[in-house]
Amino acid sequence: MKIAVVGATGATGRRVVQHALAQGHFVTAVARHPERLSSGERLSIVCGDVLSPEGLTGAFDGVEAVISCIGPEKNLSPGTLMSAGVTSILTEVKRAKVRRFVLQSGIGLSDGYELSRLNRFVVRVSGRIFAAAVADKAAAERMTQKMDMEWVIVRPVVLADKPAKGRYTAGPLARVAPLVPLSFDDCADCLLRAATNEPNWTGKIVNVGS
Ligand SMILES: NC(=O)c1ccc[n+]([C@@H]2O[C@H](COP(=O)([O-])OP(=O)(O)OC[C@H]3O[C@@H](n4cnc5c(N)ncnc54)[C@H](OP(=O)(O)O)[C@@H]3O)[C@@H](O)[C@H]2O)c1
Repeated sequence: MKIAVVGATGATGRRVVQHALAQGHFVTAVARHPERLSSGERLSIVCGDVLSPEGLTGAFDGVEAVISCIGPEKNLSPGTLMSAGVTSILTEVKRAKVRRFVLQSGIGLSDGYELSRLNRFVVRVSGRIFAAAVADKAAAERMTQKMDMEWVIVRPVVLADKPAKGRYTAGPLARVAPLVPLSFDDCADCLLRAATNEPNWTGKIVNVGS
């Protein structure tokens, strides 16, 4: 498949690019600092800032699925990167007639009902601490859900730079533990599955964790 990854220099995004290439896909890596990426077979690197008007024009031409791995530098003062950035991405997704869009969001957006009582409490407390980040991501999720196309919203638990287990829990309303770290690689695998291989996840919010 032809897949574009936005936020391709990030901790998750660069792993999504690596996994997609390893699986034989053609990948367009979109980054505002493309010099941080190394070139490779079946890889196109495109310079794009999701906050600059026209910053993504043409980036998704011929692409079948776009995965957004963008994120703010600081969760306590996130600005409007997610809502504004996803607006730009979806505008270009629509123009380029991309079939499927996958948004990396976060378990903090859950209302907690699918989780254990303790974890519901954890999500509610963290939602208060990171209220601005949650509000910005919620706007991005709402925009995604309104799109007349195939979409999947993936909500990972806390992520960590540790070896992939290859076994994790993922699915709509999956009962995950928000504070038990999942490896970035396992999260990348889940995002790629959402883009390429999971028709039952279409139009759903998928939790991923341990
Ligand atoms: N890390 C976690 O524990 C965790 C857990 C759950 C959910 N999440 C969410 O998952 C997403 C990805 O997380 P992460 O830890 O992989 O994030 P990250 O390492 O901070 O990467 C964020 C990516 O977004 C890019 N970006 C930021 N502003 C941009 C702009 N204006 N235009 C284009 N690209 C821009 C960054 O590019 P530069 O390299 O140029 O800065 C980077 O590639 C975020 O939304 C995060 O909140 C993270």
